Amino acid sequence: MLRAKTGTGSESSQDSERSAEQPVVGVLGAGRAGTAFARVMLRAGIEVDICSTRPPKALRHHLKIYAPGANPVRPEEVAVRTRSRGPGVVILAVPQEELDEVEPDWVSGPEALRTRPITPVLVDATNTWHDELLPGWLQAAVDEQLPSSMAIAGRFSGAHTVKALNHISHHDLEEAANPERALKQRRAVALAGDDNGAVGRVMGLLVRMGFDPVSLGGLAAGKIMEPDGPLFNRSLRREDILHYVR
Ligand SMILES: NC(=O)c1ccc[n+]([C@@H]2O[C@H](COP(=O)([O-])OP(=O)(O)OC[C@H]3O[C@@H](n4cnc5c(N)ncnc54)[C@H](OP(=O)(O)O)[C@@H]3O)[C@@H](O)[C@H]2O)c1
Repeated sequence: MLRAKTGTGSESSQDSERSAEQPVVGVLGAGRAGTAFARVMLRAGIEVDICSTRPPKALRHHLKIYAPGANPVRPEEVAVRTRSRGPGVVILAVPQEELDEVEPDWVSGPEALRTRPITPVLVDATNTWHDELLPGWLQAAVDEQLPSSMAIAGRFSGAHTVKALNHISHHDLEEAANPERALKQRRAVALAGDDNGAVGRVMGLLVRMGFDPVSLGGLAAGKIMEPDGPLFNRSLRREDILHYVR
């Protein structure tokens, strides 16, 4: 499904072709975090599909206010569109207590898509808050003091998982992201992932959004990005994060 275009004739069909080639990033969750991520990506010229528990028609009004220009979609559409229109990057911005309701297929797609050569990427932007009643598989990991993203990677096993964007507040996101600045003058953000290629794809996205991304290494290294870790909610430069890279 392409965005509706106005106008007729060859110009509008060329526009449609260009639009068809542009990658789409999916966002699961249209709350404070999901809409803030969408606003920053849209500002950077990245097309965004976003879903919530509400059907697209009901979401449209909410997005007019909180993420104008984002495409409201049904959750099942996210994988199909992100994988047919780009490298299949989907940001998870649903509270962890709701994750049993989030189907892994929303990221990796139905059977037919699974034979595609490029594995999709789940950007885990979620956090563990101890007042939430977590799904058993996630609580078990938290009890073992494992990073929550490792359990999330296990659940979304059809995708590579990259922990990112969880340690910056939606209040700060738009001001902190600045693609006009040179990399060294931008706010640095950390990421950690279970596949180098996927980490590279997410780094590219974060650079386009206007950050200076710093890879910590594998998912286990992302533990320091969690709410009780030293990177959480702090305005950081690259050197601050590199201090923690082993
Ligand atoms: N807020 C921040 O500054 C921030 C920053 C970085 C990371 N995070 C993390 O991101 C996660 C979400 O936080 P938030 O503050 O954005 O929460 P929020 O404002 O409560 O929004 C949650 C969103 O998830 C949607 N949702 C819930 N269950 C769903 C389901 N089964 N399927 C699809 N969508 C579903 C909700 O849908 P409805 O709209 O239909 O209810 C809502 O749009 C948390 O883990 C949080 O720690 C938050």
